[in-house]
Amino acid sequence: MIEIRPAQPADRTAVHRVTEAAFGDEGPRVVELLAALDASERTQLSLVAEADGAVVGHVQLNRSWLDARESLVDVLVLSPLSVDPAHQRQGIGGQLIEAAVATASEEGAPAVFLEGAPGYYARHGFERASDRGFTRPSVRIPEAAFRVAVLEAHEEWMTGALVYCDAFWAQDCVGLRDPVLAELEQSLG
Ligand SMILES: CC(C)(COP(=O)(O)OP(=O)(O)OC[C@H]1O[C@@H](n2cnc3c(N)ncnc32)[C@H](O)[C@@H]1OP(=O)(O)O)[C@@H](O)C(=O)NCCC(=O)NCCS
Repeated sequence: MIEIRPAQPADRTAVHRVTEAAFGDEGPRVVELLAALDASERTQLSLVAEADGAVVGHVQLNRSWLDARESLVDVLVLSPLSVDPAHQRQGIGGQLIEAAVATASEEGAPAVFLEGAPGYYARHGFERASDRGFTRPSVRIPEAAFRVAVLEAHEEWMTGALVYCDAFWAQDCVGLRDPVLAELEQSLG
């Protein structure tokens, strides 16, 4: 039985452990991103998935901006998302995404952005953001990977470029870099 609940301060070590295990070689860098987001107080929501009393998954929503013509708009970025390898492919990642987006919607956020595998996130309601007129914060994010869930509070004028909060840049966690980027672009055709 999986329970999705808000993360507590006491969960921090377990969240770092799950993140490190899920991301493999990239794990330490993603844990540093979590610490930087914590320190900059940009996290709006942090949820954990618990199975038999143990944390086995985590997702986070962080405050960033949309640079619209009229004004800056507060939007959310979903990152990172992690499920412990021993618990993957049981729907936990999907439950975490859906719970996070439902909370964002209830709290009146106009949109949740992310970068990630197009097919996986399309299943959970994330469209190609460029199809909705949004601009990537970096050309190093393949267009197909730049995704958005547009929520009820979104208004027509809220369009423009996504601006990540500082922690993503400080940790160099925006988009991909070569040679990984070049390889992915080649595989996407
Ligand atoms: C991505 C992740 C959170 C999915 O968690 P999960 O609990 O296994 O997800 P679900 O059970 O809801 O969905 C599993 C399905 O998604 C697919 N999937 C998982 N990662 C995928 C990816 N990167 N690209 C495409 N499909 C993917 C799986 O193949 C599986 O599909 P199938 O059962 O039809 O074969 C997990 O694999 C993970 O922690 N990965 C490492 C960290 C990561 O990449 N995070 C996302 C960064 S954007």
